[in-house]
Amino acid sequence: MKAIVCEAFGGPEVLAWRDVPDPPPPGPGELQVHIQARGAQYVDVLMLAGKYQFRPEPPFIPGNEGAGEVVAVGPGVTRFKPGEKIMSRQRLGAFAELGNAKAEDCDQVPSGMSLEQAAVFRGAHHTAYHALMQRGRLQPGEWVMVNGAAGGIGIAAIQIAKLFGATVIATASNEEKRRICLEEGADYAIDYRAGLRDKVKELTGARDGVDIVYDPIGAEVFDESLRCLRWGGRILVLGFLGGGPSTPRTNYLLIKGLEVIGVRLGGVTEYQPEIGRENMRKLVELAGQGKLRPRISHSFPLERAADAIQTIIDRKVIGKAVLVG
Ligand SMILES: NC(=O)c1ccc[n+]([C@@H]2O[C@H](COP(=O)([O-])OP(=O)(O)OC[C@H]3O[C@@H](n4cnc5c(N)ncnc54)[C@H](OP(=O)(O)O)[C@@H]3O)[C@@H](O)[C@H]2O)c1
Repeated sequence: MKAIVCEAFGGPEVLAWRDVPDPPPPGPGELQVHIQARGAQYVDVLMLAGKYQFRPEPPFIPGNEGAGEVVAVGPGVTRFKPGEKIMSRQRLGAFAELGNAKAEDCDQVPSGMSLEQAAVFRGAHHTAYHALMQRGRLQPGEWVMVNGAAGGIGIAAIQIAKLFGATVIATASNEEKRRICLEEGADYAIDYRAGLRDKVKELTGARDGVDIVYDPIGAEVFDESLRCLRWGGRILVLGFLGGGPSTPRTNYLLIKGLEVIGVRLGGVTEYQPEIGRENMRKLVELAGQGKLRPRISHSFPLERAADAIQTIIDRKVIGKAVLVG
């Protein structure tokens, strides 16, 4: 089969379009999928650079989510059969024509969703759902500020927070990104580089801040975001795109009764798989009702994966990038 192979740690230039052996027949509990679309995302940028928490040694085939048609099922698999269209999440290997995935990490493509949309749905929407609903304990009527809101997990968070009754402030770096955040349902969209605190206090009025901040950025944006929380607020730590982790000002935590809460989707699937499966059942149901749809700004043929990675690094993707074929 053809695949994109990461041949050394580095940037997009380390990706090569190669002929590689087909995967072995699916083992117990596995499916073999003819992958027709897969998500490319910031996690891939980190993994190629050898900077992600899971650090496979090159050569490896990147890609942790995809969608396509089941070609074979392994022993014990009863939920799926050959010919069905599914979406999958896997540790590696989605930047290829064929891949094996655990059946428990796969779902039927929700009705009304294209394969491209299904390929990029699981990771971002599951992250946002777990973060807001389980870690953030979002209640209807609360205010949520979503940082990096025009990114993959950001747009998913806007959609989920709105669906569950929140008022949403999106933060993004340029006018086009802010316009799209509003189109996706955010009530307000602001530039986080212009200073957040005063603007958020003005928008929230007598509430005096938001209840939840959803933060994949870290660094100064995290520090500034802490000051946007009202009494009893929660800040969800999802990533460190701004350059690294922060040391929370613990005096702010004490004075306002704040909580700093870590979020890691991989931890749910590893330690609380029953919660992960129930979350996906709910998300597939909501997507099937047309209430959730990933937004895709860029689509590339699989062999141009390096261009997709460069577009992510250049912060041009709004929502998700997909690799097809
Ligand atoms: N904890 C978890 O379970 C979990 C799960 C999935 C992803 N993540 C992490 O969440 C982060 C976001 O993932 P994503 O897929 O949403 O990424 P993405 O689609 O690339 O979006 C990231 C957004 O962050 C903003 N940003 C700020 N500083 C940036 C920088 N230096 N480089 C790139 N973007 C920057 C960009 O918006 P502006 O231009 O508006 O600033 C961009 O729209 C990543 O660090 C990823 O590893 C965590």
